[in-house]
Amino acid sequence: MKIYVTREIPGPGIQMLKDKGYEVEVNPEDRVLSKEEIIKNAAGCDALLCLLTDTIDAQVMDALLPKVKIIANYAVGFNNIDTKAAAERKLSVSNTPGIEITESVAEHTFMLMLAVARRLVESDRFTRDGKYTGWGPSLLLGTDVHDKIMGVIGLGAVGKAVVARAVKGFRMKCLYQDVKRDEAFENEYGAEFVSKEDLLKQSDFVSVHVPLLPTTKHLISAKEFELMKPTAFLVNTARGPIVDEKAMLLALRDKKIAGAALDVFECEPAIDCDLTDNLELRAMDNVILTPHTASATIEARGAMGAVAAKNIIAVLEGGEAPNAVK
Ligand code: DGY
Repeated sequence: MKIYVTREIPGPGIQMLKDKGYEVEVNPEDRVLSKEEIIKNAAGCDALLCLLTDTIDAQVMDALLPKVKIIANYAVGFNNIDTKAAAERKLSVSNTPGIEITESVAEHTFMLMLAVARRLVESDRFTRDGKYTGWGPSLLLGTDVHDKIMGVIGLGAVGKAVVARAVKGFRMKCLYQDVKRDEAFENEYGAEFVSKEDLLKQSDFVSVHVPLLPTTKHLISAKEFELMKPTAFLVNTARGPIVDEKAMLLALRDKKIAGAALDVFECEPAIDCDLTDNLELRAMDNVILTPHTASATIEARGAMGAVAAKNIIAVLEGGEAPNAVK
């Protein structure tokens, strides 16, 4: 059996596949492959282990079928894969959820919240630049996180892990919005299920944890920014296009919100979709940016590789992927 891996991944995943006796070919170049390159390099493979930066559409599937049995994405998100086309072709698709990635992304989300509220990056830059000439009562005043209101949009595994940190670590009151209620979770954490409008109106921190789907694209746009408090912060560690970047830039410029902390971008890997409008995320002090690294820990990225390998092994042994995406 042949497995093609579109880029080197950390952790035990590749070795797990080799231990099964599979022939594993890993793209030797540390870069994103084009669709054409994936089609060429992965020809004849029984399984494709791909990344969120790879576009896997009907054209790729048709080129690899009938041999390929599974597209194993090395990510929780799978918006890079045309899952409808895969279902029509009865081709298995899997992702890599798990406790390690959940906790890492929640941790990064909280780090971003703290960093934007307490002006961490500005403070670091100020200090390094030799501007610190003495303590001052109003020097780099930030805002507290504890005892504030946290609004979580999307109460999946990561959303829940963020709420747990907020409630247990920071005594925050949590509001949430999801397609369904979770009353057991509400009872455990005192979280309140509210409409998106109420969540936006009341929250001091709004954190987005939904998958990118046609229904969640621009879930936060101009109308939503109008509802938010001028003192509120937006955090996005999910997917860039869930937030309308242009509307966010205007809201930040016009002080409709206090700031944003972002790990993902609408036109990723570009940080700004449009550089002609004189509005640049990179030029704003009330914005903290990280390069899609919310799950970038040795533990999480290693676990993701192991999960992807398990999905492949299960399918190649004639079973179902434990993390099949429908
Ligand atoms: C995911 O798993 O979807 C993350 O975005 C990867 O960092």
